[in-house]
Amino acid sequence: MIYHFEEGSQECRIEFRDRTILLTVINEAVCRVTALNRGEQKPQRSAAIEGDKQKQTAIRIQKEETGIRLFTDKIQITVEEDGRIGFFDREGRFLTGYLSEGEESGSCGEELTEQQKAFIGREGHETADAAENAVSVKMTLDEADCIYGLGDKTGVLNKREYEYEMWNTDNPAPHEDNFKALYKSVPFMMVLKEQGAYGLFFDNTEKSVFNLGKENTKYFTYHAVGGSLDYYFMTGDDLADIIGEYTGLTGRIPMPMLWTLGYHQSRWSYMNEGEVRELAENMKKYEIPCDCIHLDIDYMEQYKVFTWNRDSFSEPERMIEDLGRQGMKIVTIVDPGVKKEEGYSVFDEGVEKKYFATDGQGNLYVNEVWPGDAVYPDFGRTEVREWWGRQHKALLEKGVSGIWNDMNEPASFNGPLPDDVVFYDEETPSCHKTMHNVYGHYMSKATYEGLQKLDDRRPFVITRACYSGTQKYAVVWTGDNNSLWTHLRMAIPQLCNLGMSGFAFAGTDVGGFGSDVTSELLVRWYQVGCFSTLFRNHSAMGTRRQEPWLFGDESLRIIRKYIRLRYELLPYFYDLFYEHQKTGLPVMRPLVLEYSRDKNTHNLNDEFMVGSNLLVSPVVEQGQVKKLVYLPEGTWYDYWTKERIEGGGWIVADAPLDICPLYVKAGAVLPKYPVRSHIDESKDEKLILEVYPGEGTYYHYQDNGTDFAYEKGEYNLYRIVNSGNGDVKMETEHQGYREYGEIEIISVK
Ligand code: GLC
Repeated sequence: MIYHFEEGSQECRIEFRDRTILLTVINEAVCRVTALNRGEQKPQRSAAIEGDKQKQTAIRIQKEETGIRLFTDKIQITVEEDGRIGFFDREGRFLTGYLSEGEESGSCGEELTEQQKAFIGREGHETADAAENAVSVKMTLDEADCIYGLGDKTGVLNKREYEYEMWNTDNPAPHEDNFKALYKSVPFMMVLKEQGAYGLFFDNTEKSVFNLGKENTKYFTYHAVGGSLDYYFMTGDDLADIIGEYTGLTGRIPMPMLWTLGYHQSRWSYMNEGEVRELAENMKKYEIPCDCIHLDIDYMEQYKVFTWNRDSFSEPERMIEDLGRQGMKIVTIVDPGVKKEEGYSVFDEGVEKKYFATDGQGNLYVNEVWPGDAVYPDFGRTEVREWWGRQHKALLEKGVSGIWNDMNEPASFNGPLPDDVVFYDEETPSCHKTMHNVYGHYMSKATYEGLQKLDDRRPFVITRACYSGTQKYAVVWTGDNNSLWTHLRMAIPQLCNLGMSGFAFAGTDVGGFGSDVTSELLVRWYQVGCFSTLFRNHSAMGTRRQEPWLFGDESLRIIRKYIRLRYELLPYFYDLFYEHQKTGLPVMRPLVLEYSRDKNTHNLNDEFMVGSNLLVSPVVEQGQVKKLVYLPEGTWYDYWTKERIEGGGWIVADAPLDICPLYVKAGAVLPKYPVRSHIDESKDEKLILEVYPGEGTYYHYQDNGTDFAYEKGEYNLYRIVNSGNGDVKMETEHQGYREYGEIEIISVK
């Protein structure tokens, strides 16, 4: 092995007989490791990471007997003569590394397991070819290691001993714990160790498998069918540090419009204008706060994107204007599949400009989605994204406030897209096999940037399919769940891992999409939904309707109580998005993120925190009226009764149907709004600070909640110090926006 390193540079190039490994230090806690493919001089372009993330960092290389050792202030990395790489913390404590030859080899192109072969063979690849192009690593795990992240996956919080695939998949069957892939691919994992933590982001868009200690608890493997072995190793004291680094690379969620954190009502589909108006009337009648109604595919003419069905929505602009006066916004669905129909302008123009994917022979590639025969815009190209972005004018000029991107795995009803369908990576021809997992990512980018150009508001885009980094453009939901208790249970670890993987703005379909909901399940789902960031009730055609007032007075009363609670807590949620922008931390957090050194939190699947002050332990079992709640060390207050409880153990909480056990940390300041039916200008009239006994400091953020003026300093940041004896001091750290008309302080005794 020969290595090249120039003093002062942040790159070390290590040449082996058959390959080159490049170590690129991004900052003192993050190092990129790239195994260059034959003939490659530099790493491939990343879809996830935009802009140059490298910070000037002092590094040192030391020659050792068996290879070299790279040092930053926070990491040590060894590369051995045989190509093995080891990762150590700043003190030189071993974190993980490739297994040695004797144990199991761990470098590129190793032999595939039978399962990997089956996985690759399934989509019709030649196993021999695939094996030649495949990349994999096998790295050590310690007995006490826990694994989190991986984006949107089924099953439990701690992914150790499970296996998952990264291949964006639209499988309409109920998502079982053994589903290896859902709609999103986020090839990022975090390992929490007894001491410290590390993260790995394998930036490769091709289909991959994470085997997290399933066949042998001493190691995990990452295997991709193609692309490069190109990963970022990051380390820190805790999961929070790793999340900070990962979102520093792949991006964070820009401040959302405040109303998007309100309640959303959806159904596949509200079929006509009358139904939509009636829905808004019912919200008023039943006193359900609501900010948004979603229009699913039936608002379109024959499912042609960017059109309106004029028979059922004769005057969309009038309808949207009227609803707007009642405080209700409209979000419309936009799918990628463009109906193959001559005379339909989106199709004609896309064909003329060669904006759609083609088969190997240059013919339009046609599959089937909602409109029947349909073609796929080639979103990997800037020109196509800009064109697509401009199409949204047709919706925005009617008054639409946000866009819901669906079916962008991409879904196809007529068999999967063949691997060799031609999609471009910018101006370089590529193929479906490589571009599949970033199709939804680039569609979201097209939509976000399109909306950004069309008006001044912060774009509101929801997407189903994602790759790492999509969080910069879109909010996500977990796709087609079912009205099943198992799916309510799964929602918690699923949203917590999504949050720890950058997707802090996420939700499940409240009540469940497929199957028929019961009143009890719906009520319990609202008790989880009102604490998840995207709070939307959505259900499938043909299932029992699930608007809040259809289940009797008692259910309505409880659902209303939780939607109102959400509206009261909106300033807290908004503050947490401000915090996310600064730190990358999610809003909804598993307890392990806040209390990682407490082993009782490592596998806690049925409770979570909102920020670091509110602990939510919902009932997710049918018939249950008591809940076993774990309260970590410290003092807590029951949100409902204000009873003081010492943590550090389990308690049995009363949880009749109208109670979702909720606890507030001692010293907390909870910012609240008076209850209102929707977000409007009056949001700045009054702020309530609910102050809990104990000492603490809290930051509250305020801006207009709509546009990007905050980037020019038009915001207020308040520092609130709770002295613990009922005395609260509030200082304005930054003043750039109008102040609240009134601030009411409620001291909890
Ligand atoms: C997909 C979406 C679902 C939507 C339906 C019809 O199944 O996941 O949310 O309602 O398509 O557009």
